[in-house]
This record gives sequence, structure tokens and C-alpha cells, in this order.
Amino acid sequence: MEIRSLQRSDYDVLIPQINDWWGGRDMAGMLPKLFFNHFKDTSFIVEEDEEIVGFLIGFLSQDKSDEAYIHFVGVHPDYRKKNIGKILYDNFLNKVKMADRKVIRCITSPVNKTSIAFHQKMGFVIEQGDKTVDGVAVKSNYDGVGNDRVLFKKKIE
Ligand SMILES: CC(C)(COP(=O)(O)OP(=O)(O)OC[C@H]1O[C@@H](n2cnc3c(N)ncnc32)[C@H](O)[C@@H]1OP(=O)(O)O)[C@@H](O)C(=O)NCCC(=O)NCCS
Repeated sequence: MEIRSLQRSDYDVLIPQINDWWGGRDMAGMLPKLFFNHFKDTSFIVEEDEEIVGFLIGFLSQDKSDEAYIHFVGVHPDYRKKNIGKILYDNFLNKVKMADRKVIRCITSPVNKTSIAFHQKMGFVIEQGDKTVDGVAVKSNYDGVGNDRVLFKKKIE
């Protein structure tokens, strides 16, 4: 398995696949090409036999000089629970540490129980919400009306 920085050409390979990776949810629209043009240095690809099996799209916050943000992480369904997500997060963590960032944030949908479990394993805490869904604090309408989100935060030691 190899890990490398994102390349522009990865867009054409990943976009046709990612809705399947998310169990049929429409996710491709949340990953426009701009991420492949402007965030390559803080985004990563994992490959096995030259096939993409995982990716992370992240960036350094423009507004908050001590923060970084993970927009997307995905691992091919056949390659889950093999530490690929952890490897991607560790690489991002090392990158943002070098930029002297102190906090990483990300969000997920309350229905995404896998993502919630994964982020908690990765040391993220769930921020206060305004309601609770299945025991998890959720911020209502965070991404627009009807789009509740779980907000994660990890302090970098
Ligand atoms: C979430 C996701 C990226 C995790 O990737 P992964 O490579 O399978 O995760 P890892 O193997 O690195 O697991 C890291 C830790 O999370 C835990 N974990 C991973 N999936 C889990 C699950 N479904 N339930 C509970 N814990 C889980 C692992 O057990 C491991 O914990 P450990 O270190 O104590 O053993 C992957 O399931 C995925 O791509 N899901 C679909 C896309 C998605 O929802 N992305 C997140 C929102 S953007």
C-alpha cells in the first residue's frame, strides 16, 4: 500500500466511484474539482496495486490560523477496517502539525454511524449541539434547513 499527495487527475478516477463508497448516497456533488486544483498539498490518496482505495480531502483554515479542516474521507468498501482511514488521518495530522495548527475540525451527518464511531476512535470529541440523536449531540440545520450535523474537534498535542 502506498500513500501520496492528491493529484488533479484523481478527480476523474474518484468521482464515478464515490457514491457507491457511501452506500448510494449522492456525495459526488460535494467534491467539486476545486478541491483537486487547490488543496493537493493537504490531501492524500492511498493506493493498492495502482488502484485508489482511500482518500482524504483536507485543508488549512484560511480564517482561523490555528485550525485545519477535513472535508472528506473515504475508503473503498472492500478495504475497510484495515487502518487505511487511520493512515490518512495520521498523514493529515503530521502535515497540519508542521503548519503549527492546534485544532482539526470536521463534521458528519447524524445517520453516518460508521463515521461517528471512526472519528471517536481517532480521538475527536463531539461538540455541543442543540439536540440529541441516538445519544449523539447534533447541531440542527447546520448545513441548511433539514441538514443536521455532528461537529467534531480534535486538539493537536
Ligand atoms: C469511515 C471510514 C473512512 C473508516 O475507514 P477505515 O479504513 O475502515 O477505518 P480504519 O480501519 O482506519 O479504522 C480506524 C478505527 O476506527 C474504527 N472503525 C472503523 N470503522 C468502524 C465501524 N464501522 N464501526 C466501529 N468502529 C469503526 C476501527 O475499528 C479502528 O479502531 P481501532 O484503531 O480501535 O481498531 C470508512 O468506513 C468509509 O469510507 N466510510 C464511508 C465514507 C464515510 O462515511 N466517510 C466519513 C464521512 S466524510
